[in-house]
Amino acid sequence: MVHMQVPFYRHSLSPEKAQLVAKVLETPFLTSGPIGKEVEAQLCEYFGAKHAKLVNSWTNGAVATLLALDIGPGDEVIVPAMTFIATANVVELVGAKPVFIDCDPDTLLITPELVKAAITKNTKAVIPVHMYGQMCDIKAIREILPKDHKISIVEDCAHTFEAKFNGDRPGKYSDASIFSFYATKNVTCGEGGAIITNDSSLFERIQQSILHGMSAGAADRFKEGQYKHWGMEHLGTKANLPDLLACFLPEQIKTIDQRLALREEIAQRYEKAFLSTKIRVPKVLKGVVHARHLFPIHVGPEIRDKALLVLGEANIGATVNYRSVPTMNYYTRKNQFSGDEYPSSLKWGNGTISIPLFPGITTQEQDYVIDVLVTKIDKMIGGVKQ
Ligand SMILES: Cc1ncc(COP(=O)(O)O)c(C=O)c1O
Repeated sequence: MVHMQVPFYRHSLSPEKAQLVAKVLETPFLTSGPIGKEVEAQLCEYFGAKHAKLVNSWTNGAVATLLALDIGPGDEVIVPAMTFIATANVVELVGAKPVFIDCDPDTLLITPELVKAAITKNTKAVIPVHMYGQMCDIKAIREILPKDHKISIVEDCAHTFEAKFNGDRPGKYSDASIFSFYATKNVTCGEGGAIITNDSSLFERIQQSILHGMSAGAADRFKEGQYKHWGMEHLGTKANLPDLLACFLPEQIKTIDQRLALREEIAQRYEKAFLSTKIRVPKVLKGVVHARHLFPIHVGPEIRDKALLVLGEANIGATVNYRSVPTMNYYTRKNQFSGDEYPSSLKWGNGTISIPLFPGITTQEQDYVIDVLVTKIDKMIGGVKQ
């Protein structure tokens, strides 16, 4: 085995991209301006959505969306136990209660049945997460929601941009969908995100809630050379994305579907290599386009941390996505439960490791990762396939 160093992730923005920033500096717009507007039009076209708004993170975009939906104290929002903490934290940040649900043990996605069982008279929204890049069945979730009780669906698309479920992209059956352009995401500008929606009145409120709840944005306040007063009808946060970052997005959005083929090829190579081992991978549903954002494997709780050490010693970047959110101290303290109430999330979260998957990984690098996993880590797993 030839030893090498394989990072968990390597971005593909070259130093020449500094030209894009230089172009923004030639304009008066250091904050949100014409480039952001261009990207928003691009997003509307890509997703077939009526409206799009760039934001400075998924997290801030979600806070703004929940505020725009008037969700707050006394309200419940259904969230997966198996996700990144941000999905639940944004519910806490607006003063509402995250109600955790477990996931399907094979796909790690929430299901319509699990959502249905968690609905109470206080439920105001559900935030399905398209884990690792594979989409939940949003149409089926929409169909099980009561017809006489308004429950909004806000899709957490932090792991997907380019995925499809039965031919549909995110946004078609939900009230709003929120994306992340964080450093390791399939489309990135370092930090950032976007909200899409087909609901024009919700969009109007989102535009305000991303700017402190102000009734007019900076450009509108100075229209036609005349200062216009602004009002404030409801509470908002500060979530707009500056053109200094938005400038990295147009080209990546144009070429995202080309990179998807590369991600799929890398993911399938891993899947094939682990077929004859005890390493388990999430099930990919038939008829879906998977964004292949992360490649998690399951090696089991007995050896997971030892396996992380072996990967570290072999200079292979690896992370954990994710330990079950209700087991985090903040939530066990607050909810007075142990977190064991969500067995599939707990089992997956205690035994999973994410291994390198990015379009620029070389065949040699991937072969090295596979070699370490198959010759060292698989041997540490006792019993049957995890
Ligand atoms: C599932 C999920 N939701 C939300 C977020 C938060 O995204 P951001 O860092 O853009 O706020 C992440 C970030 O990794 C995530 O993985």
